[in-house]
Amino acid sequence: MIRMRRLRVNDAMRNLVRETSISKNDLVYPVFVTEGENVKNPVDSMPGIYQYSIDRFDEELDRIVKSGIPAILIFGIPEHKDEKGSEAYNDEGITQRAIRHIKEKAPNLLVIADVCLCEYTSHGHCGLVCGHEILNDETLVLLGKMAVSLAKAGADVIAPSDMMDGRVEYIRQALDENGFLNTMIMAYSAKFASGYYSPFRDAAQSAPAFGDRRTYQMDPANGKEAVRECENDIEEGADIIMVKPALAYLDVVKEMSYRTDYPIAVYNVSGEYSMVKAAAQNGWIDEKRIVMENMIAMKRAGAKIIITYHALDVVKWLEEDA
Ligand code: PBG
Ligand code: ZN
Repeated sequence: MIRMRRLRVNDAMRNLVRETSISKNDLVYPVFVTEGENVKNPVDSMPGIYQYSIDRFDEELDRIVKSGIPAILIFGIPEHKDEKGSEAYNDEGITQRAIRHIKEKAPNLLVIADVCLCEYTSHGHCGLVCGHEILNDETLVLLGKMAVSLAKAGADVIAPSDMMDGRVEYIRQALDENGFLNTMIMAYSAKFASGYYSPFRDAAQSAPAFGDRRTYQMDPANGKEAVRECENDIEEGADIIMVKPALAYLDVVKEMSYRTDYPIAVYNVSGEYSMVKAAAQNGWIDEKRIVMENMIAMKRAGAKIIITYHALDVVKWLEEDA
């Protein structure tokens, strides 16, 4: 008989053969910054997550820096929205001001800036709209401007999440032409049209006013196409590729981990977070145990980087168990 249980006999042996671990160095924490003063708005559908005005953000920044995680992913929520998402590429826009503030206070914290128009457009779509069509090539120009403006503000990493074709190549060129040779691109490569984003759309006030995102985000049924999206982004110059959402798409992560040596990120999105929080608040699950199991699952599938709203709790739990 092959006795598999020998390797599970006690803590020491289990520690010795454990294949996967999670560290605070794997984590990215998403944050929401809004206009105004003295604002700390709870996001109802995401317990523990708040929108902060820049002047109130320092309390959050303190916690983040103390936790020792390497990076945040920043989302700005502008007051003014229009058809072309003008605030997205305004050097004085909310996101740009927030990034300058953060880089001044915490220069060693990596700032990853989400690049997409949906938080900034009156119609809530990720690209320019003509009738009911979402224009691709015309949108690239604005994404390029947005990326350069965010890099100028101090963003270390640009993370295009719009799913327009050709955006990585376009943004890389725009960054290079403006002297931002060292600004990285973390591409939302395989981003699926998912029901798991709905709490985020409350947090970032970015729900589409008509239609849905299925002409640009991916069909959840397509794994091979997800591989093509990732490979295209690598070809176009992405430094890091991302799969989003995480847990329902770990097959894509695993497949890419076989195919590429580029770092792979996963986005453990708002809906995944809210489901865990809701069940935990009801006493139906053990939050710490479930979250840590999910983190390990993402690492085991092959992700190096985990973007998660649980990040600060995970650091706390890792320290508890150290
Ligand atoms: C913007 C964007 C979205 C998310 C990240 N960037 C929303 C969307 O595409 O509708 C979702 C993040 C989350 O659900 O936590 N395009
Ligand atoms: Zn978008």
